Amino acid sequence: MTQQWHILGAGAIGSLWACHLVDAGFPVKLILHTQEKLDIFKQKNSILLADRAYPMTAELADATDTIDQLLITTKTVDTNAAFNSIQARINPGARLMVLQNGMGSQQWVQAQRPDTNVTWASTTDGAWLKAPFHLHHAGQGITHIGSPQQQCLPWITPLKNGFLTLEEDSDIRLTLWRKLAINCAINPLTALHRCKNGALINNPDYLSTMAAICREVELVAQASHIELFDGPLIEQACHVAEITAENYSSMLQDVQKGRQTEIDSITGYLCETAKSAGIPVPINLMLLNKIKQIQTT
Ligand code: PAF
Repeated sequence: MTQQWHILGAGAIGSLWACHLVDAGFPVKLILHTQEKLDIFKQKNSILLADRAYPMTAELADATDTIDQLLITTKTVDTNAAFNSIQARINPGARLMVLQNGMGSQQWVQAQRPDTNVTWASTTDGAWLKAPFHLHHAGQGITHIGSPQQQCLPWITPLKNGFLTLEEDSDIRLTLWRKLAINCAINPLTALHRCKNGALINNPDYLSTMAAICREVELVAQASHIELFDGPLIEQACHVAEITAENYSSMLQDVQKGRQTEIDSITGYLCETAKSAGIPVPINLMLLNKIKQIQTT
């Protein structure tokens, strides 16, 4: 197997990981989705982060080299199309790491290619692109990496030599569920009311809706054999809303910019799981429909 990592989805988190992997000594190739983007990239053949240029290469999805190690950092709404565009290039036995918000894509990728080794990852790093291929690392976080199938992932050790903080996670499904639960509680409500996260705890109406969302999420988690937190979810959600009181959630930012949100892989995943388990989740369904409506208007 080559050392090369391909990265599908060169947004902020994909670019951050590209720099991290270069720092850790791996050759990195970005898979870009337009010729225009590739032309811009080729002016520098690197990503700029904190005044340092991280050299790497880039190509389009229709390139012919095969893929042994792939990091998938597309937005969840773009995953299926992006993955399908490179499927044929992925070697059997390849290592695929899905680093995304929400849930559903991880299982989908696994189902597409059962002949590969798929790991799941979740990060609290914050980053944004100042300009194409010019990155700002706004907040140092932790990336949890794990596999629901394999306990031991020795290949992660060399990945730890770059500048990001990585942790092997023996219960990555729980980690992703926890993030999903908090996102279900905060993101759709802030996007609907176009408010900062802090408004959810200062407005009694918003707070009681958030509490109702949390009760539904807890029931679905329980049915999925997930023990979310030691205390009630609403306490965790209020805590996160408090410490991020001045933030606009990622879903609100998408709505404000007229972009597709990640509602399907957050509240949508929750509602699908609830349906399979026969659990009514009327508040989450209402929010799912409202955010979908906002997206199409
Ligand atoms: O998606 C987000 O914006 C964040 O995960 C969170 C926790 C809701 C804070 O803004």
